Amino acid sequence: MTDIHDLSLLLRARTPLIVLETHDELRALDALQRAVEDTGQSERGRVRSRPLYRWTISDGLVRAGFGEPEPGNEAHQEPDEVLRHLRSVRSPAVVALCDFHPYLEGNPKIVRLLKDIALAQSQARHTLVLISHAMKLPAELSRLSARVSLALPGEEEIMTIIREEARALSAQGRKVRADNQTLARMVHNLKGLSYADVRALVRSAIMDDHAITESDLPAVNKAKFELLDLEGVVSFEFETANFADVGGLGRFKDWLANRRDAFTDNSLKDKPKGVMLLGVQGSGKSLAAKAVAGLWGLPLLRLDFGALYNKYHGESERNLRESLQLAERMAPCVLWMDEIEKGLANDGSDSGTSKRLLGSLLTWQAERKQPVFVVATANDISALPPELLRKGRLDEIFFVDLPSEKVREDIFAIHLKSRGLDRLVIQGPLLAAAAEGFSGAEIEQAIVAAIYSSRAKGEDCGVQQILKELASTNPLSVVMAEKIASLRAWAQERCVMAD
Ligand SMILES: Nc1ncnc2c1ncn2[C@@H]1O[C@H](COP(=O)(O)OP(=O)(O)OP(=O)(O)O)[C@@H](O)[C@H]1O
Ligand SMILES: [Mg+2]
Repeated sequence: MTDIHDLSLLLRARTPLIVLETHDELRALDALQRAVEDTGQSERGRVRSRPLYRWTISDGLVRAGFGEPEPGNEAHQEPDEVLRHLRSVRSPAVVALCDFHPYLEGNPKIVRLLKDIALAQSQARHTLVLISHAMKLPAELSRLSARVSLALPGEEEIMTIIREEARALSAQGRKVRADNQTLARMVHNLKGLSYADVRALVRSAIMDDHAITESDLPAVNKAKFELLDLEGVVSFEFETANFADVGGLGRFKDWLANRRDAFTDNSLKDKPKGVMLLGVQGSGKSLAAKAVAGLWGLPLLRLDFGALYNKYHGESERNLRESLQLAERMAPCVLWMDEIEKGLANDGSDSGTSKRLLGSLLTWQAERKQPVFVVATANDISALPPELLRKGRLDEIFFVDLPSEKVREDIFAIHLKSRGLDRLVIQGPLLAAAAEGFSGAEIEQAIVAAIYSSRAKGEDCGVQQILKELASTNPLSVVMAEKIASLRAWAQERCVMAD
């Protein structure tokens, strides 16, 4: 494993300080133990390695692998005490200092003691390995140190963990069910987490129903998001959508269906990068973006450009960069950038911030290494910088137009059924004809308004009530006729029609 290899190299080079940031202390100690053994065996053919010790505030200093100290027998428990002791010891050792981070902060004596040990390399050549979930070394120490990170489990290792957990449960007499497709997705979605976290999530997914099913995926994704602590301007969307809930957009659906496997196929070099959904308000762009995650069974993250401006005044770029890196840690995932024109408006009114944001976004798009599929949505193309739309950045720009008559019928069916009005679905053609120029959102709105107004009158909602609502609405296509016409003309030449 690469982490053990890296550690061995550092130990062999007698690096005085090694920082190992991880939540997985047991695995870190295990890797360290193996690296120590490894260095011993290859020292000029002689089996000689430095002994490994472990220090914690609770146990003090103990020889690793020799069990816990007898209660009351703890040695060198205090942080400054253990460092003083090590400074005086002549025979070189490797010492893992677990959770030492709190004692460094605002404590010049501790910092100096660490530095003394690190500099005293002509005497005892100790290596101190600082294992903590997070560790920031002061400048005077960081120059003497090296940082390593533990390799995270890969697909094969994750699969092994799932098998082990399933076997353990089956041994108690209950067989665990799983289908191959869900398993494959689960493995993908667990990437980026430590061994311990993968095991915990797998266990809780299996426990409840003795099966790994499609329904376990959202909870696993959410737990992963929380474990990675991806706060800030990227949020986790628990609710994804189904394409069965989206009327129309046939071409977009086909496009996605054709790429579903390509996105998570490791053997493919050119993975789908993302799409832009451009179109009329209320035509289902946001809904479709959510449905991509649903269709591909991937976690859905949402990047909020508004928050980027509001929350982090003056630091927007750095936050965007960090958010994008965080999104990569959730990979494979769908990153939804809703109403992107609001974040990257081209009007020059914000002293260049949006230009710089765009720069960060484009750089990331060109350099990203992990499978993150971007779905950006926009209403107003004129506000968008042309660089973003250039071919190659994203795979395709889809134009989502107002729904055709056939699609309006589908949208009526979807929303009537979701509100228990299945009996009206048969009137679809009549309703669709009356809703000429209506967007999906306006169709849904008419149904909702009809339900309320008929309830107020103590009536059942029927076709007449819906027709009445439609007749009294002035759809956006009428109110904004000119704007929509110019959007369409723009899209005609540059976009693929989504339907
Ligand atoms: N094609 C559609 N099929 C089914 N429902 C739709 C469709 N289009 C819109 N709707 C309904 O309208 C709601 C609002 O649509 P949505 O927010 O996705 O539109 P949008 O294109 O993102 O609009 P905006 O440009 O205002 O953000 C959806 O949640 C859905 O209930
Ligand atoms: Mg929207």
